[in-house]
Amino acid sequence: MKVTSISPAQDSIKLLQITDTHLFEPLDGSLLSVKTLDSFHAVVAAIAESGASYDAMLATGDISQDHTAVSYQHFEQGISPLALPCYWLPGNHDFKPSMHSVLPSSQIQQVEHVLLGDHWQMVLLDSQVVGVPHGFLSDDQLSMLDEKLTQNPDRHTLVLLHHHPLLVGSRWLDQHSLKEAESFWNVVEKHSNVKAVVCGHVHQDMNEMHRGVQVMATPSTCVQFKPKSDDFALDTQSPGWRELDLHNDGSVSTQVKRLASGSFQPDFNSAGY
Ligand SMILES: [Fe+2]
Repeated sequence: MKVTSISPAQDSIKLLQITDTHLFEPLDGSLLSVKTLDSFHAVVAAIAESGASYDAMLATGDISQDHTAVSYQHFEQGISPLALPCYWLPGNHDFKPSMHSVLPSSQIQQVEHVLLGDHWQMVLLDSQVVGVPHGFLSDDQLSMLDEKLTQNPDRHTLVLLHHHPLLVGSRWLDQHSLKEAESFWNVVEKHSNVKAVVCGHVHQDMNEMHRGVQVMATPSTCVQFKPKSDDFALDTQSPGWRELDLHNDGSVSTQVKRLASGSFQPDFNSAGY
C-alpha cells in the first residue's frame, strides 16, 4: 500500500535522510575500496542504537551501483531494523526496472507527493537522465511540482531530488549538477511555500540559504567527496546521515551525524570515480 500521508508522533515532523548507498549484488562489493553494504549496515546500526525516533526516512538516490535487483533487495533488508516508511527516488546510478522490482514493499514507498501532518508536504522529484551523471527535470516533473505547490499554498514544502540544484563549488562535481536549474528555481520562486530542498549526489554536507530556501546535501553512507575541490578528491570524513526536524512555523532544524572518525576510509590513491 502506498503511504502518502504521515501523522507525526510529536509536534514537529522528524525525518531521517540517508543517501548514496551505492550497493552491489555481491556482499563484498566495494566503491573506492569501501565495502558499501558494510558501511550502509553500520550506518543503519548506529541510527538504530542512537534511539532517535523518526516519522519517516528518505533515501535520495544512488541506492545501487550495479543496477541489479539484488542490490535493491539488500537495501530493503538493510533498512528493516529502522521500521520506518522509506520514501526513495532515483539517482544517476539507479536502474529503475530493478528499483521497481522490490515494490510493493512493507517499508519502501515510491510516490511523488506526501502530506506530512497538518503543516507540511513533501514533493519527490526524479532528476535522472539515463546514462549520464548530471541531472535534469523534465517539463512533467516541473509541472507536477508547480501543481503541488499551487494545490497546497498553506503547507510548508520540503522538496527532494538526487542532484544538487545549487553549485557546491567543486568543479568536477558541479559538471554533474542539476542542469537548467534555473527552471527549477523559477517554479520555486513562483510560490512562497518551499522552505527546504534536500539532495544527495555530492557525498558531502552542505546547508545553505538560496533565494530564501534552505538547501541541503548530505554525506553518503559510503565514500565522501572533499568539499570545494576542483578535481576529484576523497574526504577523510566518515559515512553519515541527516536528521531533519520540520517545525509547524516552517522552520527546519537539521543535523548531520556520522560514524566514528576513521570508519570505512576509502583508497585515497584512487584517481576517479
Ligand atoms: Fe549521484
